[in-house]
Amino acid sequence: KISIVGLVFVALSLTFAQNDTDFLYENFPEDFEWGFATASYQIEGGWDADGKGENIWDEFTHRIPSPIKDNSTGDVACDSYHNYMQDVELLKNTGVNFYRFSLSWSRILPDGTNRTINQRGIDYYNKLINALIANGIEPMVTLYHWDLPQTLQAVGGWPNETVIHHFEGYARIAYSYFGDRVKKWITFNEAFVVCQQGYGDGVHAPGISSPVQSYDCAHNVLKSHALAYRLYEREFKESQGGECGITIDCGWYEPEDPNNPAHVEAAERAVTFKHGWYAFPVFFGDYPSVMRTLIDAKSQSEGLLESRLPSFDSYWSQQLNGSWDFLGLNHYTTELVVPENRTDPGWRGDQNTRTYQSEEWPPSASFWLRVVPWGFRKLLNWIKITYGNPLLYVTENGFSDTDAEGVNDQGRIDYYRDYTNNMLKAINLDGCNIKKYTAWSLMDNFEWAEGLTGALWCHYYTDPARPRTPKMSQSFLKKLFADNGFPL
Ligand code: NOJ
Repeated sequence: KISIVGLVFVALSLTFAQNDTDFLYENFPEDFEWGFATASYQIEGGWDADGKGENIWDEFTHRIPSPIKDNSTGDVACDSYHNYMQDVELLKNTGVNFYRFSLSWSRILPDGTNRTINQRGIDYYNKLINALIANGIEPMVTLYHWDLPQTLQAVGGWPNETVIHHFEGYARIAYSYFGDRVKKWITFNEAFVVCQQGYGDGVHAPGISSPVQSYDCAHNVLKSHALAYRLYEREFKESQGGECGITIDCGWYEPEDPNNPAHVEAAERAVTFKHGWYAFPVFFGDYPSVMRTLIDAKSQSEGLLESRLPSFDSYWSQQLNGSWDFLGLNHYTTELVVPENRTDPGWRGDQNTRTYQSEEWPPSASFWLRVVPWGFRKLLNWIKITYGNPLLYVTENGFSDTDAEGVNDQGRIDYYRDYTNNMLKAINLDGCNIKKYTAWSLMDNFEWAEGLTGALWCHYYTDPARPRTPKMSQSFLKKLFADNGFPL
């Protein structure tokens, strides 16, 4: 596998020059669909309303001192729990085909288990789903966008294997109550971030920093995904006729010097450690062999009795292998990669690379996000070649700016124009099997560790009392969606 991936890298680097900025004036295929995405904790508010249980983000943001940059919380956020009809209006006004949102696990199952179902939580999502459908908008539902019930964290959270059966139970409730109307299910949003930020770096809830727990978390997230996927396949798919997949986030990793084989190999390791960590098990039934080799050797040198990278037995390998109807991709940016021998334990050190962004690339309001539209096309091609051109839905892509920009968000328009044009090239010129595109996000919201003012998106909105005001990018997207591309 390593050498195939290596060849792919070389081929891609040769095929697309970085300065390929020619704009493609063409349309997307007729069946292409457009939408916006949000997540429960980032927009809902109503953190303890109507029987909702506490989750890890409630607990995390209520800590003193606050781990959030501006000390804010998602207690109220956009108050979509009370104002969801306004969200539906925004979606309708922009002319989307679908809306991607997530369910708050502890709003439906307050203690995380299906011993107690909170009917008022079910009612909320029923109202939202029905309103979307009444307005011709298809619901696309993420089961887990980072808000684990606190009761499950209290017994260890994702690194504790018992969580996988609770996740399956929760998935069963979601399919049973909503599956008559919801036909697109995403088990996990950015599985990588769940584990790396939550249990590896500790910058996200539950704030644990460990080189071991992030790998255990990933292992159980993957098993949970397999359980939820197989449950849908076995008991719901035939009667409900929907699809189930997982969303894996990935930037593009470009060798600093594409003519240096060591750089090419390092970039290959970076994308494999990031995307392959989660996608190889789902597509091939096991972790990438390069992770196994490097992590096993490093674990041994650290004197550990077992590798920090757990193994799937043949049962789990089979459950995982092929557990997808579509692949969800969140993509925002690109990094340059150089090889570096590292001894720090954990995901970053394990891959023996150093990554950084070029200062020549236009910045955003997020420290990690620079504008590199050609990287999107390269990643889409890498996915096509590595996994055999799977059905792919872009489940997030977007640009953050600051409050100072107000409704005049030209930077976001430029970003959307150039990124979607590169996606168009990937489809029309390179043959990538991409059928949906989702802009992040419908409106300004709670940006995790960066708080309420950390990153701003398509509709101006920071105060729950303030109506949601469209920015300039909203009209741009409305036209793009209506035109279905860039007609001459
Ligand atoms: C990915 C996450 O899924 C979403 O929750 C977050 O707000 C955006 N990226 C922007 O950082």
